[in-house]
Amino acid sequence: MRLVDKVVVSIGGSVLIPEKDDAKYIRDLAEVLKEVSKKVCLMVICGGGKISRYYSNTGKNLGGSTYQLDELGICVTRINAKLLSIALGDVGFDTIPVKPEDCANMASPGKVAVMGGTEPGHTTDAVAAMVAKFCGATRIVNASNVDAVYSDDPKANPNANRYSKMTIDELKTIIYDEHIACKSSIFDPLGVKIAKDNKIDILMINGRELSELKNAILGNEIKGTFINSH
Ligand code: UTP
Repeated sequence: MRLVDKVVVSIGGSVLIPEKDDAKYIRDLAEVLKEVSKKVCLMVICGGGKISRYYSNTGKNLGGSTYQLDELGICVTRINAKLLSIALGDVGFDTIPVKPEDCANMASPGKVAVMGGTEPGHTTDAVAAMVAKFCGATRIVNASNVDAVYSDDPKANPNANRYSKMTIDELKTIIYDEHIACKSSIFDPLGVKIAKDNKIDILMINGRELSELKNAILGNEIKGTFINSH
């Protein structure tokens, strides 16, 4: 018998909540997830986006500690997870797990487990890697509003290289090079470490393009960047 692929999607909050026709995007996204969940065992981790940044900035102005600001961010990621779960209807769950292992155990073909953050100190990309590790996932699909990995900010530098394939060590170099400016802009460093240690590939794609998302989840050719961890 052929084993069913296990796939974890890390979806950025700004992708999930485009701030224009949000319900339409989330409904369309949920339809794609429902469809592909018949073929793979799917877990989706939701980010916080602009709303979590609003709470974080406001909390900071109120004197909140880094730990407390992270806690605010986690609350928002869980609200976003609940929203997606509602859109999934019977294919989703009423409960939003708070532990990666619970999320990993809940999903099965035809049932999509959705969660947000876990604890302070990292982002939901790292949570996606933890879930992937627990369930032995083949790949993590990082659905952000950037369509691929570039050697530099493509808006600032038109000569930036766009990668279609790279190794996880090459990704590490880019992340660590960017450390001083904005370390988590591509993928959370803890998430990269977990993916490397557990040989989980990462696919960086534009989450607004639902056909691209579907291809990435199903292991088909993608337009984004395939990061090989093997
Ligand atoms: P995100 O995962 O959305 O992080 O969590 P991010 O880096 O701001 O978003 P992307 O990846 O660029 O889209 C929002 C915030 O919630 C806290 C962190 O403060 C994070 O920045 N958080 C989230 C945690 O502390 N722990 C978690 O497990 C998840």
